Amino acid sequence: MHILRKTYLAALLLVALVAVSCSSTRSQEEPAHTEAGLLDTIDRNLELAVAQYKVLRDNLPADRFPKTYYPDRNEYEFSGSEWWVSGFYPGTLLMLYQETGDTAMLAEAKRIMKVLEKEKNNTRTHDLGFMMYDSFGELYEMEPDEQTKQILLQSAESLASRYEPTVGAIKSWDSKEGDYLVIIDNMMNLELLYWASRVTGDPKYADIATTHANTTMANHFRPDYSTFHVLNYNKTTGDVQEKKTAQGYADDSAWSRGQAWGLYGYTATYRDTDDKKYLEQARRIADYILSQPNLPADKIPYWDYDAPDIPDAPRDASAAAIMASALLELSAYVDGDEAKRYVSTAETILRTLSGDEYLAKPGTNGGFLLEHSVGHLPAGTEVDVPLTYADFYFVEAMQRYKELKK
Ligand code: GLY
Repeated sequence: MHILRKTYLAALLLVALVAVSCSSTRSQEEPAHTEAGLLDTIDRNLELAVAQYKVLRDNLPADRFPKTYYPDRNEYEFSGSEWWVSGFYPGTLLMLYQETGDTAMLAEAKRIMKVLEKEKNNTRTHDLGFMMYDSFGELYEMEPDEQTKQILLQSAESLASRYEPTVGAIKSWDSKEGDYLVIIDNMMNLELLYWASRVTGDPKYADIATTHANTTMANHFRPDYSTFHVLNYNKTTGDVQEKKTAQGYADDSAWSRGQAWGLYGYTATYRDTDDKKYLEQARRIADYILSQPNLPADKIPYWDYDAPDIPDAPRDASAAAIMASALLELSAYVDGDEAKRYVSTAETILRTLSGDEYLAKPGTNGGFLLEHSVGHLPAGTEVDVPLTYADFYFVEAMQRYKELKK
């Protein structure tokens, strides 16, 4: 979720002024390797994104949500509102509206969110943070109103219903009797719970989120601060009975997007709690990622840091975009060389994703912005394709970069 949303209204008022000042101070194209050059690139990317998302909108069946697109066969894959990615399309549209003022983005976001709204009652998934907070949460920040607030509170209630005190964690996936599966991705759903406690004054949601973050910190991470993907708890005792993967190369490998979810999740949890132990956790995860010998110089990770066919393994632009966004936020919580290292890595990611290899040409890629992400390689699905969450976190990272440099 976009961190500096608190400043959104003030930022909106400044948009015209900034545009004027940018056009006078950056009237000529800046070299791409400079900060001003990257800001120019971001402005162009955001204009491209608006045009691309109009293509995506025009190809979307009325009550469906974009998942991916297969360029070789010109084929889309859509989902219903219950699929975990359903919040990213409206969330991206809302950020594009904030950045460009294009009202078509806002109108499409509001249309699709009417279809999404019913998921507030969905108690069969842990993904309600992704689905509801990245969409309705973003809208509430822009236009606080009672109806949006109630949708978010009901979503938080549904998410909290999956919490089991004996385990001290929210169940991620329903599974067979005797399993209690929790995945690292679940750290991303906690923001919704912290928000609900802030708004209602009822600590129960924040308490659940904090216990979940502590349980995950105690059990999911290896001594080097890489993370397992899936933990299976014993629901009766709370003991860990399995540590494994679902979407990574191997149980003991480091699936790239999982590392990125951990980095983003603990950075956000620090923001929501002010508790330094989560900041320390995020810094250690960042150290792990940034010191990986298999992280290429352009900072777009292979889909798994331990993929056996590196350097021929597919890259995952979605993991890179999540990392960029998280590192930009984390940079604001640390000082000196450490902050510079995070910003400079995020800049490298943003530049690489803005290049010919990853950024879609206008009118191509089914209207998605980025190419070359990996959804679920072991299942053979969504390999080297555009993904709606790669676009979401790329746009969020660009928005954060602009705010950081303002
Ligand atoms: N949360 C599912 C994924 O990252 O693919």
